[in-house]
Amino acid sequence: MVNAIGPLDDDAVVIELGPGTGVFTREVAHRYPANPLVAVEFNQVFAESLRCGMPKVRVVEGCASRLIGHLDQLGIDPARVGAVISGLPVLSLQRGLSSAIFSAIAEVLTPGRPYIQFTYSRRAWRRFDLPGLRLERTLAVWFNMPPANVMTFRRVGAASPITVGD
Ligand SMILES: C[S@@+](CC[C@H](N)C(=O)[O-])C[C@H]1O[C@@H](n2cnc3c(N)ncnc32)[C@H](O)[C@@H]1O
Repeated sequence: MVNAIGPLDDDAVVIELGPGTGVFTREVAHRYPANPLVAVEFNQVFAESLRCGMPKVRVVEGCASRLIGHLDQLGIDPARVGAVISGLPVLSLQRGLSSAIFSAIAEVLTPGRPYIQFTYSRRAWRRFDLPGLRLERTLAVWFNMPPANVMTFRRVGAASPITVGD
């Protein structure tokens, strides 16, 4: 997941959606110590635990679909967002919510910046449209239990509907 972020300017903000227990969060903080990290977590217990364990991370207890509002409240200009990574259980979310999350991600990313998503089923993603985001590559992680996939999307210039195909 974190390998897919790539090089970042020092003031670029990394956003993590659905950090849970913070496995990815800790790795991002370790590899990008100079970059602000914002974590948006719905679950109060996880959010508080992250806040206590990683005081430098700006933890927002809220919904990923409201990302633009969260950044606004933190005073962060979306133009500074360098990457969005996500462990959100997108395949289990209601369709309207996943669409709202994809729109929010596309809205905060500038063209060329990545959205990196963890998933257990690459195939199940064929049902989604991700306007303004292009699937660049899928990496199978066989040593994860169960085996998983890391999907890297990239913000494209125009917000046109793009279907995730094979
Ligand atoms: C599979 S877990 C993430 C696993 C994480 N990588 C870890 O190391 O624990 C998914 C997380 O997404 C959070 N989540 C689910 N829906 C959300 C939403 N709409 N907005 C923000 N977080 C959400 C859940 O509370 C949960 O912590």
